[in-house]
Amino acid sequence: MIEQNSGIFNLSTQSTTYLFGVNKSGHLEHLYYGEHLCSTSISLDALSPILTNPLGIGIAYSETDPSMLEIVKQEISTPGKGDYRESAIELSYNDGMDTLDFIYSSHQILKGKSSIFTGLPQSYGDNTICDTLRITLKEKELKLRLILTYTTFNDCDVITRKATLYNDSPAEITIQNLASLQLDLDDSDWDLTTFDGAWARERHINRRPLTTGILINDSKSGVSSADHNPCIFLSRKDCNELHGECLATNLIYSGNHREAVEVSPYGQTRVLTGINSAGFRWKLAQDESFTTPEAILTYSNAGFSDLSKNLHYFANNHIVRGYWKNKQRPILINNWEATYFNFTESKLITLAKRAKEVGIELFVLDDGWFGDRQDDTSSLGDWSVNTKKLTSGMGAFAQKLHEMNLLFGLWVEPEMISRNSNLFDKHPDWAVIIPGRAPSVGRNQFILDLTKEEVREYLYTALSQIFTLGKVDYIKWDMNRTFSDIYSNNKAIRNMGEFNHRYILGLYALLNRLIKTFPKILFESCASGGNRFDLGMLSFMPQNWVSDDTDAYERLAIQEGTACGYPLSAMGCHVSAIPNHQTLRKSDLETRFNVAAFGNLGYELDMTKLSDFERDIIKDQIAFYKMYRNIFQYGTFVKLPSESNTTRWAVMDPQKANILILDYKRRLKPNPGLEILKVPITNISYTYEVYPRQQKLSIKDFGSLAENFIASSTGIENKKLEKVMKKMLHINTETVHYEVTGEYLAKCGIHLPQTFGGTGYDPHLTRVMPDGGSRIYLITRKK
Ligand code: DGJ
Repeated sequence: MIEQNSGIFNLSTQSTTYLFGVNKSGHLEHLYYGEHLCSTSISLDALSPILTNPLGIGIAYSETDPSMLEIVKQEISTPGKGDYRESAIELSYNDGMDTLDFIYSSHQILKGKSSIFTGLPQSYGDNTICDTLRITLKEKELKLRLILTYTTFNDCDVITRKATLYNDSPAEITIQNLASLQLDLDDSDWDLTTFDGAWARERHINRRPLTTGILINDSKSGVSSADHNPCIFLSRKDCNELHGECLATNLIYSGNHREAVEVSPYGQTRVLTGINSAGFRWKLAQDESFTTPEAILTYSNAGFSDLSKNLHYFANNHIVRGYWKNKQRPILINNWEATYFNFTESKLITLAKRAKEVGIELFVLDDGWFGDRQDDTSSLGDWSVNTKKLTSGMGAFAQKLHEMNLLFGLWVEPEMISRNSNLFDKHPDWAVIIPGRAPSVGRNQFILDLTKEEVREYLYTALSQIFTLGKVDYIKWDMNRTFSDIYSNNKAIRNMGEFNHRYILGLYALLNRLIKTFPKILFESCASGGNRFDLGMLSFMPQNWVSDDTDAYERLAIQEGTACGYPLSAMGCHVSAIPNHQTLRKSDLETRFNVAAFGNLGYELDMTKLSDFERDIIKDQIAFYKMYRNIFQYGTFVKLPSESNTTRWAVMDPQKANILILDYKRRLKPNPGLEILKVPITNISYTYEVYPRQQKLSIKDFGSLAENFIASSTGIENKKLEKVMKKMLHINTETVHYEVTGEYLAKCGIHLPQTFGGTGYDPHLTRVMPDGGSRIYLITRKK
């Protein structure tokens, strides 16, 4: 709901209120953001600072108005009028002047939200959920108009904002910075959490207290990046997963972004998010306009899990669109780590058969199927089938998979060009390279200039042909290098400071066209793993490869961080071989599954080399995942409190009738004493049954103790043991079962059975939990 009363704008969602007003000087003064306020009669005087004189050496707004913009919370801050904090808008006019002053002019309140694609992806929602406010501001002396557009999403406590600047004057201006969102807060008693990392360790949670000065979370590499995701959290000191006040911002954008969090000398906090001003310059001639990406804002007073729940709901219902929206995602096998570039058609078909046998639904052919690509030094750009590898051709190969009742998925990396390619020979100026300067290079490849219409046309045609030929059901859209040597000979570019943004607009235009032509293809975005995991890409591609790092232990931090801002349905999570290809670490197959199950499950290993034991395990894992797929992909995700050696995640349906818990032990602790599983998120009026998922243990894991266990658990005499052991490859994990009330689970917790500690073994009750051991507990409401 959006209302305006006596110059105060009240933007309310179910549980939050956002207030700002037009103050005496005509500025948009931010008043409040937080828990929902019921009272509607709000006075601006009570919520804004009262100053009779400037503070210290502060600058008064004018000779007649002593108010100091430096302590006014604002919706859009400008340079040159005494507010020395970071500005939301910076531009230069008249040979380098930059003073700006935007004053309220008019507004409109509209039902619903426009979702027309105008170059940038936008969130969407219908009239029953959304209201929109468009506020027009005018620069006091220049003919510039700024429209701030706010939309409320009542169903998930989200507010979005974007800004559009119009140049109504004959003089050209150059925009250096235009933030999508500004949020000014009264105090600085907040922690900032960012999601930082690098390749193979994306989006680790990084929380620290705010202190005077500016913290910048940004990307300058041309993509939203694994280094610093555009999503950020602010939280009160006492905020944890289940309690406390917190808020989040995020950006619907895939390129360079910048979040500035500034604590002023007066202890107020300013948050800005938008396109990164570094390297950005955008010329605006008469009658031209520039629109920022849309930013999102959400608040909760019930801890991080509730905040993430808002963000998940928003992504699933107001970002992801089209055929795959809220649809269960197929379980896939990807051949990358099984074969890398070295495959034949018959190898792939055998792999597909083995995958089908265990219940996999989608076969994904990764890198190496096109041009003359034997390694990563060639052929990007040449999107024609390599018939030496796929001897029957793309159409016939895909048909074989379809006949096996498997969906067919294909890897592409359309934004790139190899120097060693036919495309480069033909169009060297399509590569982003500065003429006359030796270019820097990433993974032996260059970026294609997607600002150019003819490049996009080429890609659209080449990709459409291959998608049609293979009748593809799924596309993995990869992007394996970041930007350098920015240059384009595209005549439409007036300043190279436009390039990065124009590239992203070009990418979105291409994706928009392809998705319209192939509405049923499931697209998964990838950028060397998770280097472009953002709401912009999710607007076109419903899922995203989280990380190339599939080591179960590493994935805990990666998936946990990613799930703060993005739903599990967006997260590609695979079980891979051991030793793990990124870390050489060994985790058992059950644990690899237990972690990968919290997202879109896939397998990325050579299924033709599995033992019978491993195949049986995978079959059971897939059957289990299929039973609870909707919860694993669309359930509410919560990180449960646990001691530091343990990671506990929960995912559940909205009614809390089925709850799945991951219990992961980092390091084995000998003779650990008693362990309790507390689940403070249950419905306390239910009675639940609790089971650990049945897992298998290899007899070999017991080494020379194995004979003792088999003798004690089966009663077989010693002399027959050797024979039995040869046949008996595995034993089942504990079969404990509890029937317990939700209240008991939430408040007291249940005692887990004794962990194996070398003093004996009960086949039904002893819990074997080596380093990196784990279980999934299934907690279901008793019928
Ligand atoms: C990087 C991706 O993240 C991998 O999964 C794989 O597709 C390779 N590229 C292929 O080159």
